[in-house]
Amino acid sequence: MTSEPGSSFHGKRVLVTGGAGFVGGAVVRRLVREGARVVVLDDLFTGRAEILPPEVEFVRGSVTDADLVRALVADASIVFHMAARNIVASTKNPRDDFETNIGGTLNVLLAACDARPDRVVYTSSTSVYGNPRSIPINEEDGLVPLSPYAVSKLGGEHYCFAFYESYGLAVSAVRYSNVYGLGQRPDNPYCGVVSKFFASAAATGRVAIHGDGEQTRDFTYIDDAVDATLLAAIHPRAEGEVFNVGTGIETSINDLARMIGEALGREIAFEHIDRRDVDNIRRRVVNIEKIRRMLRWAPQVTLRDGLEQTARWLATPGPVEQIVPQPTSGPSG
Ligand SMILES: NC(=O)c1ccc[n+]([C@@H]2O[C@H](COP(=O)([O-])OP(=O)(O)OC[C@H]3O[C@@H](n4cnc5c(N)ncnc54)[C@H](O)[C@@H]3O)[C@@H](O)[C@H]2O)c1
Repeated sequence: MTSEPGSSFHGKRVLVTGGAGFVGGAVVRRLVREGARVVVLDDLFTGRAEILPPEVEFVRGSVTDADLVRALVADASIVFHMAARNIVASTKNPRDDFETNIGGTLNVLLAACDARPDRVVYTSSTSVYGNPRSIPINEEDGLVPLSPYAVSKLGGEHYCFAFYESYGLAVSAVRYSNVYGLGQRPDNPYCGVVSKFFASAAATGRVAIHGDGEQTRDFTYIDDAVDATLLAAIHPRAEGEVFNVGTGIETSINDLARMIGEALGREIAFEHIDRRDVDNIRRRVVNIEKIRRMLRWAPQVTLRDGLEQTARWLATPGPVEQIVPQPTSGPSG
């Protein structure tokens, strides 16, 4: 991170919805290190309470519970709203997705209207862009959600900015692009492609690629995503803004599989299988100039380094805090 938030969180009461999940858990660990008093609200749909540091106050419950949300937001000076049904679960059950991703977000925003925290940070997704007309994708480019998940993440985002405009609520949003790395557990049935490939390559020496593998994504290392998320919470220029969080580098799924083989130090065989319904985006890479310029954030970890760190972590299962970050070979975008 090029602009260290330092102790901006020290002593602050921070609510993280979805804080027992992959990205939420990493945000929570950073906040605890920065001296925040962290409360996590999570229904453990995919999250795991065991990943939370002992200092954290954990509340098991759903963001769809308006009274519970209101009580927790009332005490928070910063809210990271990260709880969400994922794309696979959303596609299977769009109503549940709607209730959590849109209804839950509305609950957080309504509660925040009363409590007036310093900032609400909403974690959106680059899936809101659909199949872009041109790449890299800018924040103001067309939004064409192609899945129930993309609709609900965009709906939540629209609510955030409607509350900013209508009620002066201090919100900011980040649109993550394929976050991967330490803490993303392959035993989560909805984990991302990086985690799945690692698990299957390590176990069998093979990976199954949906479609021809020439579809592309922009892979963001977890520490970089956390840095951007924390900056969105404290930077004065982040208020009322949405930022792409990625690297600006496009990688095909075939290349990703090859790089995972290299990180594991073994040859891996590809098997091309049927395209899934949720794989309807052909190319995705985001423009990160806005966050670079306004928040002075830039990704620090290259895909190669991030995959190597992930491989090391997967080889030595244990709490993610035990991993000593390795030196990296510089910015990736
Ligand atoms: N990981 C990515 O690449 C990525 C990309 C784009 C956007 N996002 C967004 O980032 C956020 C975190 O995603 P993640 O990858 O860590 O996923 P995750 O599934 O690991 O984390 C989501 C967390 O929310 C919790 N949750 C789900 N429904 C809930 C509910 N009704 N009430 C309370 N908690 C609930 C889950 O148990 C889980 O702990 C989500 O908002 C997601 O949409 C992630």
